[in-house]
Amino acid sequence: MSGIIGYVGPRQIVPILLNGLRRLEYRGYDSAGLAVVDEGRLEVRRAAGKLRHLEELIRLHPLDGTYGIGHTRWATHGRPTVENAHPHCDCSGRLAVVHNGIVENYLTLKGRLLAEGHAFRTETDTEVIAHLIEAHLGQPLASEVDPGSRLERAVRAALREMTGVFALAIISADVPETIVAVRQGPPVVIGVGRDEYFVASDVLALLYYTRDVFFLEDGQIATLTRQGVRVSDFEGNAVTPRLERIEWEPILVEKGGFPHFMLKEIYEQPRALRDLLAAHTTSDGRRVRFEEIEMPEDHLREVRHLRLVACGGSWHAALLGEFLIEHLARLPTKAEYSSEFRYRDPILDAGTLVVALSQSGETADTLAAVREARRRGAPVLAICNVRGATLTREAQGTIFLHAGPEIGVASTKAFTAEVMAVYLLALYLAQRRGRLDDARAEQLIREAWAIPEKLERVLATDDDLRALARELVRAPAAFFLGRGVNYPMALEGALLLKELAYVYAEGYPAGEMKHGPNALIDEHLPVIAINTRDPDSPLSHLLYEKTLANIVEVKARGGRVLGIVTEGDVEVRQVADRILEIPSASYWLSPILAIVPLQLLAYHVAVFKGCDVDQPRHLAKSVTVE
Ligand code: AGP
Repeated sequence: MSGIIGYVGPRQIVPILLNGLRRLEYRGYDSAGLAVVDEGRLEVRRAAGKLRHLEELIRLHPLDGTYGIGHTRWATHGRPTVENAHPHCDCSGRLAVVHNGIVENYLTLKGRLLAEGHAFRTETDTEVIAHLIEAHLGQPLASEVDPGSRLERAVRAALREMTGVFALAIISADVPETIVAVRQGPPVVIGVGRDEYFVASDVLALLYYTRDVFFLEDGQIATLTRQGVRVSDFEGNAVTPRLERIEWEPILVEKGGFPHFMLKEIYEQPRALRDLLAAHTTSDGRRVRFEEIEMPEDHLREVRHLRLVACGGSWHAALLGEFLIEHLARLPTKAEYSSEFRYRDPILDAGTLVVALSQSGETADTLAAVREARRRGAPVLAICNVRGATLTREAQGTIFLHAGPEIGVASTKAFTAEVMAVYLLALYLAQRRGRLDDARAEQLIREAWAIPEKLERVLATDDDLRALARELVRAPAAFFLGRGVNYPMALEGALLLKELAYVYAEGYPAGEMKHGPNALIDEHLPVIAINTRDPDSPLSHLLYEKTLANIVEVKARGGRVLGIVTEGDVEVRQVADRILEIPSASYWLSPILAIVPLQLLAYHVAVFKGCDVDQPRHLAKSVTVE
């Protein structure tokens, strides 16, 4: 996983490449680099660490040119050093490659190229690509009137020998004002301007320059010059791309006065949920509609069980989906880690609906799970935030999240949107299967529409959470407890504290504590217990009483408890050390309110500890390796 960018056109190139890399840094920030061609000379600048190090290097050693490529890296093959930073060059130093993905057979290819006399400078699989293309360049053929054709031919020949997944951008000092881009797996978007063309891993990198784009499909090559772009498949057959206009405004990729993208995205949640509900409920508020689901309705009615596949935070939303769909639609449902799913020989058929949840739609494990599901004949739906993402192309239909670009590595607004989306999916299936009468459906949709305003009230408690976070800064670890729908939120709260503040944290079903983890309890271990109550739900009432008993058990062992409770709570208040109230909501929707204080808590602890909130160490936003 990494980000690639390229530009050919009349503008000053370095600011365009750096600005693009800034928008792509969420994909990896172990190192960054640029290669540009100036008057027939290839110039490369590379730096280990975050983009600012590359910017500093370029300030000291400026460069310029008319076409070039850039890269921000999340290390896979080779440590995150300056030597291993992209772009990588061939022996001549006149050809440069940036790469997102993995060349699986790079060691075999490297062995052969070494034997042929190629000298390597790095441990990366990407350098092999540069040398392989060089080996295939040869002399121009008589038919190759423009120099781009020669480079394209060499790239095509190299591709025939490579296995794996890759998005590539390649330039050569011998092929003026030309970039060759390749997609075999990770996303590649081509931006179309006037006398200028762009290539990038994500439209976010292009928004300031153009919103007219097209996505390369797997197995396609694009050759970009100032005069135009030519698209073909790996065999050389011409392809006509489908141009799209991206509606996102560039302002969406700015922090908008917030110190971090994550905080901005936490505060955007009411808006994101309203947009999601407006897109997926009818204006009379009585039905759920998913216009992008291409599956015929009678097919959906024939579904006998569901598998929800996802990774990380998205898996926590899927786990909640298991509760929601089983309860509302009465369909057996199982949430599965994408990374485990395909290795355990799952039993799937046409009656199993596989739903893949992914903010990015590029998570390699989730894509692999989807491919496996389709191979076994199961229909696949996606729940995804990014238009044009690979997942949305591979699924038979997509429920879009409408959360807007999420840049902070920790998922916040996309997570709550995923939860709302599975709630709507549960209602949708229940309605289509005759499990929900119109009056009840209307009530459940009304309850969903009430959530954004309640969420605004949760956000108003931010100062209290900041103060609570101060008390957690020195904690060596933390436990998050919940039962029923609050259990997935306990898992999510723990994940956020781990990934943002580097605090060891565990989410646990409250009732399981007595089977082992209670032994860990002492006065140094903070326990965050989510114990909300819906007065209209007997199940919620029962779980409240049970969790209360678990909180009392923690207190009896000297533990410190922070309770996340419903407004007006009396009992938890009496036993917990601290409480934080959230508005009352239906049992099935209350998790959306319960997770927001945990997002803010993790955020503030991370800020107090001086952690890099938007780009936590060793992580990246979309994980495009398995
Ligand atoms: C969440 O805060 C994480 N950064 C991470 O677990 C994320 O949810 C996971 O990598 C899945 O990403 P996706 O939703 O884009 O597939």
